[in-house]
Amino acid sequence: MTKDVFQLTGPDGTTSELPVRKGTIGPDVVEISKLYREQGVFTYDPGYGATGSCESDITYIDGEKGILMYRGYPVEQLAAKSSFIEVSYLLLNGELPTASELEEFDSTIRRHTMLNEGMLNFFKGFRYDAHPMAMLSAVVGSMSAYYHNAMDASNPEHRSIFSHRILAKLPTIAAAAYKLNIGQPFMYPRNDLNYSENLLQMLFSVPAEPYEIDPVAAEALDLLFILHADHEQNCSTSTVRMAGSSGANPYSAIAAGISALWGPAHGGANEAVLNMLTEIGDAKNISKYVDKAKDKNDPFRLMGFGHRVYKNFDPRATIIREMCHKVLAQLGRQDTPMFDLALQLEEVALKDEYFVEKNLYPNVDFYSGIIYRALGIPTSMFTVMFAIGRCVGWTAHWREMITDPNGRISRPRQLYTGPAARDYVAIDKR
Ligand code: SDX
Repeated sequence: MTKDVFQLTGPDGTTSELPVRKGTIGPDVVEISKLYREQGVFTYDPGYGATGSCESDITYIDGEKGILMYRGYPVEQLAAKSSFIEVSYLLLNGELPTASELEEFDSTIRRHTMLNEGMLNFFKGFRYDAHPMAMLSAVVGSMSAYYHNAMDASNPEHRSIFSHRILAKLPTIAAAAYKLNIGQPFMYPRNDLNYSENLLQMLFSVPAEPYEIDPVAAEALDLLFILHADHEQNCSTSTVRMAGSSGANPYSAIAAGISALWGPAHGGANEAVLNMLTEIGDAKNISKYVDKAKDKNDPFRLMGFGHRVYKNFDPRATIIREMCHKVLAQLGRQDTPMFDLALQLEEVALKDEYFVEKNLYPNVDFYSGIIYRALGIPTSMFTVMFAIGRCVGWTAHWREMITDPNGRISRPRQLYTGPAARDYVAIDKR
Protein backbone atom coordinates (compact mmCIF):
# COMPACT_ATOMS: atom_id res chain seq x y z
CA MET A 1 0.00 0.00 0.00
CA THR A 2 1.46 3.39 -0.95
CA LYS A 3 1.45 5.82 1.99
CA ASP A 4 0.56 9.52 2.12
CA VAL A 5 -0.21 11.43 5.30
CA PHE A 6 -2.94 13.61 6.80
CA GLN A 7 -1.55 16.27 9.09
CA LEU A 8 -3.62 17.11 12.13
CA THR A 9 -2.62 19.95 14.40
CA GLY A 10 -3.95 19.84 17.93
CA PRO A 11 -5.03 22.83 20.13
CA ASP A 12 -1.50 23.01 21.61
CA GLY A 13 -0.01 23.41 18.14
CA THR A 14 1.56 19.94 17.94
CA THR A 15 1.01 18.25 14.59
CA SER A 16 0.40 14.56 14.07
CA GLU A 17 1.19 12.93 10.77
CA LEU A 18 -1.54 10.32 10.24
CA PRO A 19 -0.68 7.75 7.57
CA VAL A 20 -3.12 7.28 4.68
CA ARG A 21 -3.53 3.76 3.28
CA LYS A 22 -4.90 2.94 -0.13
CA GLY A 23 -6.97 -0.12 -0.95
CA THR A 24 -7.33 -1.77 -4.34
CA ILE A 25 -10.40 0.39 -5.09
CA GLY A 26 -12.62 2.60 -2.98
CA PRO A 27 -11.88 5.30 -0.41
CA ASP A 28 -8.46 5.53 1.23
CA VAL A 29 -8.30 5.25 5.03
CA VAL A 30 -6.49 7.41 7.58
CA GLU A 31 -4.79 5.42 10.31
CA ILE A 32 -5.67 7.23 13.55
CA SER A 33 -4.30 4.77 16.09
CA LYS A 34 -1.55 7.14 17.28
CA LEU A 35 -3.92 10.08 17.67
CA TYR A 36 -4.67 9.42 21.36
CA ARG A 37 -0.99 8.92 22.19
CA GLU A 38 0.06 12.15 20.43
CA GLN A 39 -3.00 14.39 20.84
CA GLY A 40 -4.84 12.90 23.83
CA VAL A 41 -8.14 12.64 21.92
CA PHE A 42 -10.28 9.81 20.55
CA THR A 43 -12.10 9.96 17.21
CA TYR A 44 -15.88 9.92 17.46
CA ASP A 45 -18.17 8.26 14.91
CA PRO A 46 -21.37 6.81 16.45
CA GLY A 47 -22.65 3.97 14.24
CA TYR A 48 -19.27 3.89 12.50
CA GLY A 49 -20.63 5.61 9.38
CA ALA A 50 -17.17 6.81 8.32
CA THR A 51 -14.94 4.36 10.18
CA GLY A 52 -13.08 1.42 8.70
CA SER A 53 -12.89 -1.37 11.28
CA CYS A 54 -10.56 -3.68 9.36
CA GLU A 55 -8.84 -4.48 6.11
CA SER A 56 -10.73 -7.03 4.01
CA ASP A 57 -10.37 -8.79 0.66
CA ILE A 58 -13.85 -10.27 0.63
CA THR A 59 -16.57 -7.84 -0.53
CA TYR A 60 -16.56 -4.39 -2.06
CA ILE A 61 -19.52 -1.99 -2.07
CA ASP A 62 -19.75 1.38 -3.80
CA GLY A 63 -22.82 3.06 -2.32
CA GLU A 64 -22.88 5.94 -4.78
CA LYS A 65 -22.67 3.73 -7.87
CA GLY A 66 -24.69 0.82 -6.50
CA ILE A 67 -21.83 -1.64 -6.93
CA LEU A 68 -21.51 -4.93 -5.00
CA MET A 69 -18.67 -7.40 -5.73
CA TYR A 70 -17.73 -10.67 -3.98
CA ARG A 71 -13.96 -11.22 -4.29
CA GLY A 72 -14.03 -8.85 -7.29
CA TYR A 73 -16.87 -10.55 -9.14
CA PRO A 74 -19.94 -8.28 -9.69
CA VAL A 75 -22.97 -9.70 -7.92
CA GLU A 76 -24.98 -9.34 -11.13
CA GLN A 77 -22.66 -11.81 -12.91
CA LEU A 78 -22.68 -14.26 -10.01
CA ALA A 79 -26.48 -14.02 -9.82
CA ALA A 80 -26.77 -14.77 -13.53
CA LYS A 81 -24.11 -17.48 -13.86
CA SER A 82 -23.17 -19.04 -10.53
CA SER A 83 -24.78 -21.11 -7.76
CA PHE A 84 -24.90 -20.49 -4.02
CA ILE A 85 -22.55 -23.39 -3.29
CA GLU A 86 -20.03 -22.01 -5.82
CA VAL A 87 -20.37 -18.47 -4.42
CA SER A 88 -19.85 -19.95 -0.94
CA TYR A 89 -16.60 -21.54 -2.11
CA LEU A 90 -15.56 -18.20 -3.66
CA LEU A 91 -16.28 -16.21 -0.50
CA LEU A 92 -14.47 -18.71 1.73
CA ASN A 93 -11.45 -19.35 -0.48
CA GLY A 94 -11.05 -16.17 -2.55
CA GLU A 95 -11.18 -17.81 -5.98
CA LEU A 96 -13.80 -19.54 -8.10
CA PRO A 97 -13.39 -23.33 -7.81
CA THR A 98 -12.35 -25.68 -10.57
CA ALA A 99 -14.92 -28.32 -11.45
CA SER A 100 -13.26 -30.88 -9.19
CA GLU A 101 -12.88 -28.39 -6.33
CA LEU A 102 -16.55 -27.49 -6.59
CA GLU A 103 -17.62 -31.12 -6.71
CA GLU A 104 -15.55 -31.92 -3.61
CA PHE A 105 -16.82 -28.86 -1.71
CA ASP A 106 -20.44 -29.58 -2.63
CA SER A 107 -20.06 -33.21 -1.59
CA THR A 108 -18.49 -32.20 1.74
CA ILE A 109 -21.31 -29.77 2.52
CA ARG A 110 -23.96 -32.38 1.64
CA ARG A 111 -22.36 -34.84 4.06
CA HIS A 112 -22.41 -32.40 6.99
CA THR A 113 -26.12 -31.51 6.85
CA MET A 114 -27.25 -33.86 9.64
CA LEU A 115 -27.32 -32.63 13.25
CA ASN A 116 -26.05 -34.49 16.28
CA GLU A 117 -29.25 -36.32 17.19
CA GLY A 118 -29.15 -34.88 20.71
CA MET A 119 -29.61 -31.37 19.30
CA LEU A 120 -33.14 -32.26 18.19
CA ASN A 121 -34.13 -32.39 21.87
CA PHE A 122 -33.78 -28.59 22.02
CA PHE A 123 -36.84 -28.30 19.81
CA LYS A 124 -38.88 -30.28 22.34
CA GLY A 125 -38.18 -27.52 24.86
CA PHE A 126 -39.22 -24.50 22.80
CA ARG A 127 -42.83 -23.24 22.84
CA TYR A 128 -44.56 -24.22 19.61
CA ASP A 129 -44.87 -20.54 18.66
CA ALA A 130 -41.28 -19.52 19.47
CA HIS A 131 -39.89 -17.15 16.83
CA PRO A 132 -37.62 -19.18 14.54
CA MET A 133 -34.83 -16.60 14.88
CA ALA A 134 -34.85 -17.18 18.65
CA MET A 135 -34.50 -20.92 18.03
CA LEU A 136 -31.83 -20.43 15.36
CA SER A 137 -29.58 -18.28 17.57
CA ALA A 138 -30.08 -20.60 20.54
CA VAL A 139 -29.36 -23.84 18.70
CA VAL A 140 -26.41 -22.42 16.75
CA GLY A 141 -24.93 -21.21 20.03
CA SER A 142 -25.41 -24.71 21.41
CA MET A 143 -23.29 -26.18 18.58
CA SER A 144 -20.23 -25.35 20.70
CA ALA A 145 -21.59 -27.90 23.17
CA TYR A 146 -21.60 -30.62 20.51
CA TYR A 147 -18.74 -29.89 18.14
CA HIS A 148 -16.12 -28.76 20.63
CA ASN A 149 -13.67 -31.31 19.20
CA ALA A 150 -12.94 -28.90 16.31
CA MET A 151 -13.12 -25.33 17.56
CA ASP A 152 -9.46 -24.37 17.85
CA ALA A 153 -9.38 -21.18 15.74
CA SER A 154 -5.60 -21.47 15.37
CA ASN A 155 -5.97 -24.86 13.67
CA PRO A 156 -6.59 -24.58 9.89
CA GLU A 157 -8.26 -28.00 9.83
CA HIS A 158 -10.63 -26.95 12.62
CA ARG A 159 -11.45 -23.70 10.78
CA SER A 160 -12.28 -25.75 7.72
CA ILE A 161 -14.42 -28.30 9.60
CA PHE A 162 -16.26 -25.47 11.40
CA SER A 163 -16.96 -23.74 8.05
CA HIS A 164 -18.42 -26.91 6.54
CA ARG A 165 -20.47 -27.74 9.63
CA ILE A 166 -22.04 -24.30 10.08
CA LEU A 167 -22.90 -23.88 6.38
CA ALA A 168 -24.31 -27.38 6.08
CA LYS A 169 -26.26 -27.53 9.34
CA LEU A 170 -27.85 -24.07 9.41
CA PRO A 171 -30.62 -24.99 6.90
CA THR A 172 -31.32 -28.19 8.89
CA ILE A 173 -31.67 -26.19 12.12
CA ALA A 174 -33.83 -23.60 10.32
CA ALA A 175 -36.14 -26.26 8.94
CA ALA A 176 -36.41 -27.95 12.34
CA ALA A 177 -37.54 -24.63 13.84
CA TYR A 178 -40.17 -24.23 11.14
CA LYS A 179 -41.45 -27.78 11.64
CA LEU A 180 -41.84 -27.07 15.37
CA ASN A 181 -43.85 -23.95 14.58
CA ILE A 182 -46.28 -25.87 12.39
CA GLY A 183 -46.46 -29.03 14.50
CA GLN A 184 -45.04 -31.30 11.83
CA PRO A 185 -42.29 -33.89 12.26
CA PHE A 186 -38.68 -32.90 11.63
CA MET A 187 -37.52 -34.00 8.16
CA TYR A 188 -33.94 -35.23 7.83
CA PRO A 189 -31.67 -33.78 5.15
CA ARG A 190 -31.03 -35.75 1.97
CA ASN A 191 -27.56 -35.94 0.44
CA ASP A 192 -28.92 -36.51 -3.06
CA LEU A 193 -30.26 -32.95 -3.17
CA ASN A 194 -28.42 -29.64 -3.65
CA TYR A 195 -28.36 -26.94 -1.01
CA SER A 196 -31.59 -25.17 -1.90
CA GLU A 197 -33.50 -28.31 -2.90
CA ASN A 198 -32.58 -29.88 0.44
CA LEU A 199 -33.90 -26.90 2.36
CA LEU A 200 -37.17 -26.98 0.47
CA GLN A 201 -37.69 -30.66 1.21
CA MET A 202 -36.80 -30.22 4.90
CA LEU A 203 -39.29 -27.35 5.09
CA PHE A 204 -42.19 -28.70 3.07
CA SER A 205 -42.01 -32.48 2.80
CA VAL A 206 -43.92 -34.76 5.20
CA PRO A 207 -43.46 -38.47 5.92
CA ALA A 208 -46.98 -39.21 4.71
CA GLU A 209 -46.37 -38.59 1.02
CA PRO A 210 -43.66 -38.00 -1.58
CA TYR A 211 -42.54 -34.39 -2.07
CA GLU A 212 -41.76 -33.04 -5.51
CA ILE A 213 -39.28 -30.16 -5.57
CA ASP A 214 -40.25 -27.26 -7.81
CA PRO A 215 -37.10 -26.33 -9.76
CA VAL A 216 -38.33 -22.74 -10.05
CA ALA A 217 -38.55 -22.50 -6.27
CA ALA A 218 -35.11 -24.08 -5.79
CA GLU A 219 -33.56 -21.73 -8.34
CA ALA A 220 -35.21 -18.68 -6.77
CA LEU A 221 -33.99 -19.68 -3.31
CA ASP A 222 -30.47 -20.28 -4.60
CA LEU A 223 -30.41 -16.84 -6.20
CA LEU A 224 -31.69 -15.15 -3.04
CA PHE A 225 -28.95 -16.87 -1.03
CA ILE A 226 -26.33 -15.56 -3.50
CA LEU A 227 -27.67 -12.01 -3.13
CA HIS A 228 -27.64 -12.23 0.68
CA ALA A 229 -24.28 -14.01 0.99
CA ASP A 230 -22.12 -11.09 2.09
CA HIS A 231 -22.14 -7.34 2.42
CA GLU A 232 -18.86 -5.95 3.79
CA GLN A 233 -18.85 -4.76 7.42
CA ASN A 234 -22.62 -4.67 8.04
CA CYS A 235 -23.99 -4.82 11.57
CA SER A 236 -24.20 -8.61 11.91
CA THR A 237 -20.87 -9.27 10.20
CA SER A 238 -19.18 -6.70 12.43
CA THR A 239 -20.81 -8.45 15.39
CA VAL A 240 -19.32 -11.79 14.32
CA ARG A 241 -15.90 -10.14 13.97
CA MET A 242 -16.26 -8.40 17.35
CA ALA A 243 -17.32 -11.58 19.18
CA GLY A 244 -14.66 -13.67 17.44
CA SER A 245 -11.92 -11.13 18.20
CA SER A 246 -12.00 -12.13 21.89
CA GLY A 247 -11.22 -15.73 20.88
CA ALA A 248 -14.78 -16.88 21.55
CA ASN A 249 -15.54 -20.08 19.68
CA PRO A 250 -16.82 -19.59 16.11
CA TYR A 251 -20.29 -21.04 16.77
CA SER A 252 -20.82 -18.44 19.51
CA ALA A 253 -19.61 -15.71 17.15
CA ILE A 254 -22.08 -16.81 14.46
CA ALA A 255 -24.88 -16.99 17.07
CA ALA A 256 -24.08 -13.38 17.99
CA GLY A 257 -24.33 -12.44 14.30
CA ILE A 258 -27.73 -14.14 14.04
CA SER A 259 -28.96 -12.10 17.00
CA ALA A 260 -27.73 -8.84 15.46
CA LEU A 261 -29.31 -9.70 12.11
CA TRP A 262 -32.72 -10.16 13.78
CA GLY A 263 -33.16 -6.43 14.40
CA PRO A 264 -35.75 -4.68 12.16
CA ALA A 265 -33.15 -2.06 11.18
CA HIS A 266 -31.08 -4.91 9.69
CA GLY A 267 -32.09 -8.36 8.51
CA GLY A 268 -35.36 -8.26 10.42
CA ALA A 269 -36.54 -5.66 7.89
CA ASN A 270 -37.70 -8.30 5.39
CA GLU A 271 -40.24 -9.59 7.89
CA ALA A 272 -41.15 -5.99 8.81
CA VAL A 273 -41.72 -5.13 5.12
CA LEU A 274 -44.37 -7.83 4.70
CA ASN A 275 -46.02 -6.81 7.97
CA MET A 276 -45.97 -3.19 6.76
CA LEU A 277 -47.45 -4.08 3.34
CA THR A 278 -50.15 -6.11 5.09
CA GLU A 279 -50.93 -3.13 7.34
CA ILE A 280 -51.04 -0.74 4.36
CA GLY A 281 -53.37 -3.23 2.73
CA ASP A 282 -54.46 -1.14 -0.25
CA ALA A 283 -52.88 1.37 -2.63
CA LYS A 284 -55.28 4.02 -1.39
CA ASN A 285 -53.46 3.97 1.98
CA ILE A 286 -49.96 4.39 0.52
CA SER A 287 -49.74 8.18 0.82
CA LYS A 288 -50.87 7.99 4.47
CA TYR A 289 -47.99 5.65 5.30
CA VAL A 290 -45.48 7.62 3.26
CA ASP A 291 -46.50 10.70 5.25
CA LYS A 292 -46.09 8.74 8.50
CA ALA A 293 -42.58 7.73 7.41
CA LYS A 294 -41.73 11.40 6.80
CA ASP A 295 -43.14 12.58 10.13
CA LYS A 296 -40.27 13.17 12.57
CA ASN A 297 -42.67 12.70 15.47
CA ASP A 298 -43.76 9.32 14.19
CA PRO A 299 -41.32 6.40 14.79
CA PHE A 300 -42.73 4.63 11.71
CA ARG A 301 -40.23 4.11 8.93
CA LEU A 302 -40.81 2.75 5.46
CA MET A 303 -39.32 -0.70 6.02
CA GLY A 304 -37.14 -1.95 3.19
CA PHE A 305 -36.16 1.62 2.29
CA GLY A 306 -32.88 3.37 2.97
CA HIS A 307 -29.37 2.11 3.54
CA ARG A 308 -26.27 3.24 5.39
CA VAL A 309 -24.09 2.72 2.33
CA TYR A 310 -26.28 2.69 -0.78
CA LYS A 311 -27.30 6.23 -1.67
CA ASN A 312 -28.54 4.86 -4.96
CA PHE A 313 -30.38 1.67 -5.83
CA ASP A 314 -29.29 -1.41 -3.86
CA PRO A 315 -28.21 -3.64 -6.79
CA ARG A 316 -29.70 -6.63 -4.99
CA ALA A 317 -33.13 -4.96 -4.80
CA THR A 318 -33.04 -4.38 -8.55
CA ILE A 319 -32.30 -8.05 -9.24
CA ILE A 320 -34.89 -9.28 -6.74
CA ARG A 321 -37.57 -6.99 -8.15
CA GLU A 322 -36.96 -8.50 -11.61
CA MET A 323 -37.03 -11.95 -10.01
CA CYS A 324 -40.46 -11.22 -8.56
CA HIS A 325 -41.92 -10.73 -12.03
CA LYS A 326 -40.35 -13.97 -13.30
CA VAL A 327 -40.88 -16.21 -10.25
CA LEU A 328 -44.49 -15.17 -9.66
CA ALA A 329 -45.29 -15.86 -13.33
CA GLN A 330 -43.42 -19.20 -13.32
CA LEU A 331 -45.19 -20.22 -10.11
CA GLY A 332 -48.45 -19.33 -11.81
CA ARG A 333 -49.17 -16.73 -9.16
CA GLN A 334 -51.53 -14.38 -10.97
CA ASP A 335 -52.82 -13.14 -7.60
CA THR A 336 -49.97 -10.78 -6.77
CA PRO A 337 -51.64 -7.99 -4.77
CA MET A 338 -48.70 -7.76 -2.33
CA PHE A 339 -46.18 -7.38 -5.14
CA ASP A 340 -48.39 -4.88 -6.95
CA LEU A 341 -48.71 -2.90 -3.71
CA ALA A 342 -44.92 -2.96 -3.22
CA LEU A 343 -44.35 -1.69 -6.77
CA GLN A 344 -46.87 1.11 -6.24
CA LEU A 345 -45.33 2.02 -2.87
CA GLU A 346 -41.89 2.20 -4.46
CA GLU A 347 -43.22 4.39 -7.26
CA VAL A 348 -44.88 6.83 -4.83
CA ALA A 349 -41.88 6.98 -2.48
CA LEU A 350 -39.31 7.51 -5.23
CA LYS A 351 -41.31 10.49 -6.50
CA ASP A 352 -41.49 12.01 -3.03
CA GLU A 353 -39.02 14.83 -2.31
CA TYR A 354 -38.26 13.50 1.20
CA PHE A 355 -37.07 10.14 -0.12
CA VAL A 356 -35.28 11.66 -3.08
CA GLU A 357 -33.47 14.24 -0.97
CA LYS A 358 -32.42 11.64 1.62
CA ASN A 359 -31.45 9.09 -1.05
CA LEU A 360 -33.84 6.49 0.33
CA TYR A 361 -34.18 3.67 -2.19
CA PRO A 362 -35.52 0.13 -1.82
CA ASN A 363 -32.90 -2.15 -0.23
CA VAL A 364 -32.41 -5.89 -0.35
CA ASP A 365 -35.23 -6.44 2.13
CA PHE A 366 -37.96 -4.63 0.25
CA TYR A 367 -38.81 -7.28 -2.35
CA SER A 368 -37.26 -10.47 -0.97
CA GLY A 369 -40.28 -11.28 1.18
CA ILE A 370 -42.54 -11.21 -1.88
CA ILE A 371 -40.62 -14.17 -3.26
CA TYR A 372 -40.28 -16.02 0.05
CA ARG A 373 -44.06 -15.70 0.46
CA ALA A 374 -44.67 -16.98 -3.08
CA LEU A 375 -42.52 -20.01 -2.19
CA GLY A 376 -44.80 -20.73 0.77
CA ILE A 377 -42.32 -19.52 3.38
CA PRO A 378 -44.06 -17.73 6.29
CA THR A 379 -43.12 -14.16 7.23
CA SER A 380 -41.60 -15.30 10.54
CA MET A 381 -39.03 -17.32 8.58
CA PHE A 382 -37.89 -14.48 6.31
CA THR A 383 -34.98 -13.36 8.49
CA VAL A 384 -34.00 -17.00 8.97
CA MET A 385 -33.64 -17.22 5.18
CA PHE A 386 -31.48 -14.09 5.28
CA ALA A 387 -29.30 -15.76 7.94
CA ILE A 388 -28.88 -18.89 5.82
CA GLY A 389 -27.58 -16.79 2.92
CA ARG A 390 -25.42 -14.54 5.09
CA CYS A 391 -23.84 -17.33 7.13
CA VAL A 392 -21.12 -17.90 4.53
CA GLY A 393 -20.24 -14.21 4.63
CA TRP A 394 -20.04 -14.28 8.41
CA THR A 395 -17.84 -17.36 8.21
CA ALA A 396 -15.52 -15.84 5.59
CA HIS A 397 -15.10 -12.68 7.69
CA TRP A 398 -14.52 -14.69 10.87
CA ARG A 399 -11.77 -16.66 9.09
CA GLU A 400 -10.22 -13.46 7.70
CA MET A 401 -10.31 -11.82 11.14
CA ILE A 402 -8.94 -14.84 13.04
CA THR A 403 -6.04 -15.31 10.60
CA ASP A 404 -5.08 -11.62 10.50
CA PRO A 405 -1.48 -11.47 11.80
CA ASN A 406 -2.18 -7.98 13.16
CA GLY A 407 -5.53 -9.00 14.64
CA ARG A 408 -6.40 -8.10 18.21
CA ILE A 409 -9.50 -7.86 20.38
CA SER A 410 -11.98 -5.16 19.28
CA ARG A 411 -12.44 -2.65 22.05
CA PRO A 412 -13.74 0.84 21.08
CA ARG A 413 -13.51 3.86 23.44
CA GLN A 414 -16.16 6.55 24.15
CA LEU A 415 -17.00 10.17 24.86
CA TYR A 416 -17.88 10.10 28.59
CA THR A 417 -20.77 12.43 29.46
CA GLY A 418 -21.66 11.00 32.87
CA PRO A 419 -21.11 12.58 36.33
CA ALA A 420 -17.63 13.73 37.39
CA ALA A 421 -16.13 12.03 40.51
CA ARG A 422 -18.38 12.29 43.60
CA ASP A 423 -18.46 10.71 47.08
CA TYR A 424 -20.84 8.04 48.30
CA VAL A 425 -23.82 9.38 50.29
CA ALA A 426 -25.24 7.31 53.15
CA ILE A 427 -28.84 6.30 52.57
CA ASP A 428 -30.17 8.40 55.47
CA LYS A 429 -28.55 11.49 53.92
CA ARG A 430 -30.09 11.08 50.40
C1 SDX B 1 -29.92 -4.39 5.71
O1 SDX B 1 -25.37 -2.53 6.32
C2 SDX B 1 -25.77 -3.37 5.48
O2 SDX B 1 -25.11 -3.64 4.48
C3 SDX B 1 -27.13 -4.00 5.78
C4 SDX B 1 -27.69 -4.94 4.72
C5 SDX B 1 -26.82 -6.17 4.56
O3 SDX B 1 -26.88 -6.77 3.47
O4 SDX B 1 -26.18 -6.58 5.55
O5 SDX B 1 -27.75 -4.26 3.47
C6 SDX B 1 -29.06 -5.44 5.09
O6 SDX B 1 -29.91 -4.27 6.91
C7 SDX B 1 -30.70 -3.47 4.83
C8 SDX B 1 -31.46 -2.36 5.65
C9 SDX B 1 -32.76 -2.96 6.16
N1 SDX B 1 -33.42 -2.00 7.10
C10 SDX B 1 -34.55 -1.37 6.75
O7 SDX B 1 -35.08 -1.44 5.65
C11 SDX B 1 -35.17 -0.55 7.89
C12 SDX B 1 -35.60 0.84 7.38
N2 SDX B 1 -34.39 1.60 7.05
C13 SDX B 1 -33.79 2.35 8.07
O8 SDX B 1 -34.10 2.19 9.37
C14 SDX B 1 -32.47 3.00 7.71
O9 SDX B 1 -32.56 3.45 6.43
C15 SDX B 1 -31.24 2.14 7.86
C16 SDX B 1 -31.17 1.50 9.21
C17 SDX B 1 -31.21 1.06 6.82
C18 SDX B 1 -30.01 3.03 7.66
O10 SDX B 1 -29.98 3.88 8.73
P1 SDX B 1 -28.85 5.04 8.83
O11 SDX B 1 -27.80 4.85 7.81
O12 SDX B 1 -28.44 5.13 10.26
O13 SDX B 1 -29.62 6.32 8.38
P2 SDX B 1 -30.48 7.21 9.33
O14 SDX B 1 -31.33 6.35 10.20
O15 SDX B 1 -29.58 8.19 9.99
O16 SDX B 1 -31.41 7.93 8.28
C19 SDX B 1 -30.96 9.08 7.59
C20 SDX B 1 -32.22 9.93 7.42
C21 SDX B 1 -32.95 10.15 8.74
O17 SDX B 1 -33.63 11.38 8.64
P3 SDX B 1 -32.91 12.71 9.31
O18 SDX B 1 -32.66 12.40 10.76
O19 SDX B 1 -31.65 12.94 8.50
O20 SDX B 1 -33.95 13.81 9.10
O21 SDX B 1 -33.16 9.22 6.59
C22 SDX B 1 -34.33 8.93 7.34
C23 SDX B 1 -33.99 9.07 8.80
O22 SDX B 1 -35.12 9.43 9.55
N3 SDX B 1 -34.69 7.55 7.02
C24 SDX B 1 -35.93 7.13 6.80
C25 SDX B 1 -35.78 5.76 6.45
N4 SDX B 1 -34.49 5.41 6.50
C26 SDX B 1 -33.82 6.53 6.84
N5 SDX B 1 -37.11 7.73 6.86
C27 SDX B 1 -38.21 6.98 6.58
N6 SDX B 1 -38.15 5.66 6.22
C28 SDX B 1 -36.96 5.03 6.16
N7 SDX B 1 -36.90 3.71 5.83
